[in-house]
Amino acid sequence: MAGSAFVKIDRLYESEMRERARDAQKDKPITSCSILDFFRQMTGFEPTAYQVAFLLDMSQFVVARWSRQSGKSLCLTLIALYVALSASNRRIAILAPSLRQSRTMIRRAASFLPKLPKNALEGRALKTKLEFSNGSTIEAYPNSPETVRGLTLNLLIVDEANYIEDDRALYDAVIYALGTTNGRFIATSTPGSRDSLFYEMCMDDDLYGDFSRHHVSFHDALEPNGPLKKAILEKLERQMREDPWRWQREMLAEFSEDEEAYFSYGLIDSAVNNNLEYVEDLNKREAGGERETEQ
Ligand SMILES: Nc1ncnc2c1ncn2[C@@H]1O[C@H](COP(=O)(O)OP(=O)(O)O)[C@@H](O)[C@H]1O
Ligand SMILES: [Mg+2]
Repeated sequence: MAGSAFVKIDRLYESEMRERARDAQKDKPITSCSILDFFRQMTGFEPTAYQVAFLLDMSQFVVARWSRQSGKSLCLTLIALYVALSASNRRIAILAPSLRQSRTMIRRAASFLPKLPKNALEGRALKTKLEFSNGSTIEAYPNSPETVRGLTLNLLIVDEANYIEDDRALYDAVIYALGTTNGRFIATSTPGSRDSLFYEMCMDDDLYGDFSRHHVSFHDALEPNGPLKKAILEKLERQMREDPWRWQREMLAEFSEDEEAYFSYGLIDSAVNNNLEYVEDLNKREAGGERETEQ
């Protein structure tokens, strides 16, 4: 009888100690190295020069307009993890054009968990949320203003921002989440439409001049300076010759004009007949000729 009471007391004592150890852990960073070393340790890759500039950018508002497959989502994943693990009680939200895409980043972040100290995660990894023993969380949200309104965040991450439908409504609903924390906003994308908030963030100096901007064309991301392979890109560029604006957007990471134009440049160009002589300026008298309307 007395023995079982002692066993109970021992168990209670052990669980109390575990609880206290966990509480003490809450205020300690899980990682204390630099973000570049963290990137190296987690991915096994050397960050490229443009990734280094992006990873080290501590500006409050950051936009990255990079070519496809240049390593945007990987950087965002590592930034989210680093912010979560290097300080306690950080709230990080991930937004993307769809919940499926924002969840993909959670899955990608979870794939690095085996490389983190044991017990870094609190409970189990969920599809939409990772909660860490230091009280930090990374959570994926849908493109839904109602769902994100009212959050309080230390870091808001938006992937493929130029492909978010009604991007302004989502931004307006979520951006105040950083208001009391003085938190940070980081958006990446390949360029899409010019009629978008992402375009303004990248180009409008009056409204978004305080945004730190990163531009990376595929030229910057070719091996050995980045993950892109020259041989296949040459083939893809040839395949897209009919649609140069697509290439311009996807790989040069420039906002092309084609989508907004009523007639595409390609169409106008193909309608030009080089055998005809064109009047260059309708208001100018042609040499030796007369304009009837001026009679
Ligand atoms: N610094 C790097 N070194 C080697 N491979 C990299 C590096 N950065 C990214 N990658 C790889 O390049 C591929 C594309 O990365 P991802 O982040 O998905 O690109 P994006 O989101 O820009 O399309 C992935 O397989 C990723 O692991
Ligand atoms: Mg991506």
